[in-house]
Amino acid sequence: MKDSAPEKKPEPVLSARGLVKRYGHVTAIDGADFELLPGEVLAVIGDNGAGKTSLIKALTGALVPDAGEIRLHGEPIRFSGPLEARRHGIETVYQDLAVAPSMDIAANMFLGREIRRAGPLGTVFRMLDKKAMRRESADYMAALQIRLGSLGQAVETLSGGQRQAVAVARAAAWARSVVVMDEPTAALGVKESAQVLDLIRRVRDKGIPVILISHNMPHVFEIADRIHVHRLGRREALIKPADYSMAEVVAIMTGALSVTADGGTVVSDDEAASAAGVRRG
Ligand SMILES: Nc1ncnc2c1ncn2[C@@H]1O[C@H](COP(=O)(O)OP(=O)(O)OP(=O)(O)O)[C@@H](O)[C@H]1O
Ligand SMILES: [Mg+2]
Repeated sequence: MKDSAPEKKPEPVLSARGLVKRYGHVTAIDGADFELLPGEVLAVIGDNGAGKTSLIKALTGALVPDAGEIRLHGEPIRFSGPLEARRHGIETVYQDLAVAPSMDIAANMFLGREIRRAGPLGTVFRMLDKKAMRRESADYMAALQIRLGSLGQAVETLSGGQRQAVAVARAAAWARSVVVMDEPTAALGVKESAQVLDLIRRVRDKGIPVILISHNMPHVFEIADRIHVHRLGRREALIKPADYSMAEVVAIMTGALSVTADGGTVVSDDEAASAAGVRRG
């Protein structure tokens, strides 16, 4: 006989409740909740200034929230900084890019995790094993199907999109628990964007969940398993793309529509809703 008990929800990989972050009079995070499930691509969307980057920074140790609780694999956790989050397997591609422009691609791939040469040259003189780092970087890039030419070229000689690809590749290569990408395709052309979306799928297929912040609705609808809609510093809705149209999601984002407890929608701002071309759900 079939078990009629409702399917048990898996333990979230990363979650948060009631996060708050104030900058003087500005409340960047205003009691935000968050949930990332195993194996999913979770899109985080919201207007400019809604607090998406702040939320992601709080979840990845780049800022310390004033209040609220973060859990990793169910255990409460407090990251002292991004390095500690990385040690816990969370890799982030920040919106304000964190690559070292004067260093080459391979050195950027190994930033903070450099391979030293064997023997006293490495242990005493701290000399880097550049060959090994280039070889391993080449392997990562090949596995992720990213082509950038010579891995010995300085990152400052790359285009904005190519730099983004280095940051994305680094995150995908090292992540063990979570990959976070804040607007990874914003600076990219059509072809490069498609490659990053492919990369996100490959990371997910390795079993690592991905948080993707994006303003690009077609990308979000193409790739996300769920959508976290952020508005005025908090999570306004957590939905499945199949259940809503793109216009409805945009309307939720702008406050024209609200999602009800049963997953329906109500018009909370008639004028805005009709401007967005959506009707009562
Ligand atoms: N370091 C800071 N100091 C002061 N205010 C800040 C700081 N960082 C963010 N804010 C403010 O917090 C609010 C949320 O900013 P945040 O960057 O998180 O938004 P966002 O949703 O990522 O926007 P965007 O879509 O433009 O990237 C904004 O009002 C912003 O001005
Ligand atoms: Mg942002």
